[in-house]
Amino acid sequence: MIAVNSVKQWRTLRAGGRFAGKSLGFVPTMGALHEGHLSLLRRARRENGLTAVSVFVNPAQFNDKEDLARYPRTLAADAELLKAGGADFLLVPAASEIYPDGYRYRVSENEESRALCGARRPGHFDGVLTVVLKLLNLVKPDRAYFGEKDYQQYRLVRGMAEALFLDVKIVPCPIVREPDGLAMSSRNLLLGEEERAIAPALNMVLTSGAPLSRMKKALAKLGFEPDYVEERWGRRLAAAKLGKVRLIDNVEA
Ligand code: PAF
Repeated sequence: MIAVNSVKQWRTLRAGGRFAGKSLGFVPTMGALHEGHLSLLRRARRENGLTAVSVFVNPAQFNDKEDLARYPRTLAADAELLKAGGADFLLVPAASEIYPDGYRYRVSENEESRALCGARRPGHFDGVLTVVLKLLNLVKPDRAYFGEKDYQQYRLVRGMAEALFLDVKIVPCPIVREPDGLAMSSRNLLLGEEERAIAPALNMVLTSGAPLSRMKKALAKLGFEPDYVEERWGRRLAAAKLGKVRLIDNVEA
């Protein structure tokens, strides 16, 4: 696995002969990798000749500075997992390399990004779409892989790729869960012992078949601070805080 820290280094590599006749699969991440990310890498490896994974904690998508400061960073362990998982390239750019413009230029979507997580996290999806567009333009993959846990994010990225005529296939990948049903997420690392014990109830409530309004009440009773439980796009989606940790999940409606 080749680790790449600078845009210049990557551009030189990408222009070189090693990509000739091989498709490139790309998995963008913010690190603190878990089995969910590794499932994206496995799929990317199955479907492509070469794979690249980025680890970049994107400041532009954090509407809360404390949340950005707290976000788990486990780069050495991530690199080991990716190496063992067979990734060909690990991209770890600095924020100054990704935002030479100081985030003066950004991508916004004006409908779906306003709902659900977007309604509660102002600017979040502008940050996501902008960094994903920058990464896709740099990496130039044939396919890019996104987990369905962030279902709204997946839809917005897919919509952006269509709207801006990007030459990449956006591939959705199913949610990977812990044995107790909790959707895998880097943020799970931030849960205290008690919170971790309660966390699987988010999925239990979502799949309980109760009316949506009752689900919100049930979550509150269990100790969550529910943000939303809504049905859209053939999915039932929820976000709720446990202490300081915001969890999201979704299931087929
Ligand atoms: O899903 C994530 O980890 C991030 O939102 C992404 C797509 C890597 C953009 O920073």
